[in-house]
Amino acid sequence: MSGTHSRHASRAPRAVTVALPIGVLFTAVASLATLGGPLATPAAETELPAPAAALALPHVEVAESRAANPCGDDAVRTALKDGDDDAVVAAFGGGEAFRAAVSVGNAPCISLADPDRTWVVVNKRRPLRPTEFVPDALTPVSLRSTTPSDRLRPEAAQALADMADAARDAGAGTLGINNGYRSYGVQQLTYSSHVRAQGQDGADAGSARPGYSEHQTGLAIDVIACGSGCSGLDAFGATTQGGWVAEHAWEHGFIVRYEHGERTTTGYMPEPWHLRYLGPELAAAYHHGGFRTLEEFFGLPAASDYAP
Ligand code: DAL
Ligand code: ZN
Repeated sequence: MSGTHSRHASRAPRAVTVALPIGVLFTAVASLATLGGPLATPAAETELPAPAAALALPHVEVAESRAANPCGDDAVRTALKDGDDDAVVAAFGGGEAFRAAVSVGNAPCISLADPDRTWVVVNKRRPLRPTEFVPDALTPVSLRSTTPSDRLRPEAAQALADMADAARDAGAGTLGINNGYRSYGVQQLTYSSHVRAQGQDGADAGSARPGYSEHQTGLAIDVIACGSGCSGLDAFGATTQGGWVAEHAWEHGFIVRYEHGERTTTGYMPEPWHLRYLGPELAAAYHHGGFRTLEEFFGLPAASDYAP
């Protein structure tokens, strides 16, 4: 997944222009006057001479992420209460505005630990809470599956179906799945089998410990390439489908969660097959911002390993 913009440039909060009523400007100028210097004597608003600079500049530049209190916005509150995550992001002003507000701490109503939300972040430092969380709704995906773990949350299942159709229409072949939702218990079995095969260090490089897997949220899926049969996970990155997914998954609300060269942040070796559903707005902001890890996207600490 390659971004067209500089990641660092995109992370600086964009300046926006906010029109303020002239009365507010007068109050602001009066407040500044109390800070000291030649204008230290407070003046009543009615006595304050019309400040030429304020009249000439009826707009004030502020950082977008601090422009307002998005959590006080009625549309944000209603969408949160309704559990409509797409509408929450839209009410913030879109994916980049949401990301910026969350990452600077200007969105106290948004919890990145809430496993019911599409913006939840799970990693080696952020286990699921509750540990044995089960999503409210899970639905079988419409793609061919090579295991019984073929369910996802409905919004992710629909996005996956749309993405598979788009891949097929683009001539990129057929997508299938290996694993979608894995319960805490299934993750115990999965992780244990990796430990038996590779030892604990090897297992920790590619398999989450129980209670620490994105698969338990119902928002993560391992995709594979299918033809007459289906290939395995390790082969996926080199397939036509793998190349197409790396480029286009974001258009369908997904990100490739564990990218090459990011283990010190994500804690895992590259997994070009492991897609995480974020929703269309956040996935687009992630892509356009050139981000390569969800931790950096939301300004979270790296999670290279479990807490000692
Ligand atoms: N393979 C990923 C890290 C998981 O087990 O969730
Ligand atoms: Zn996975």
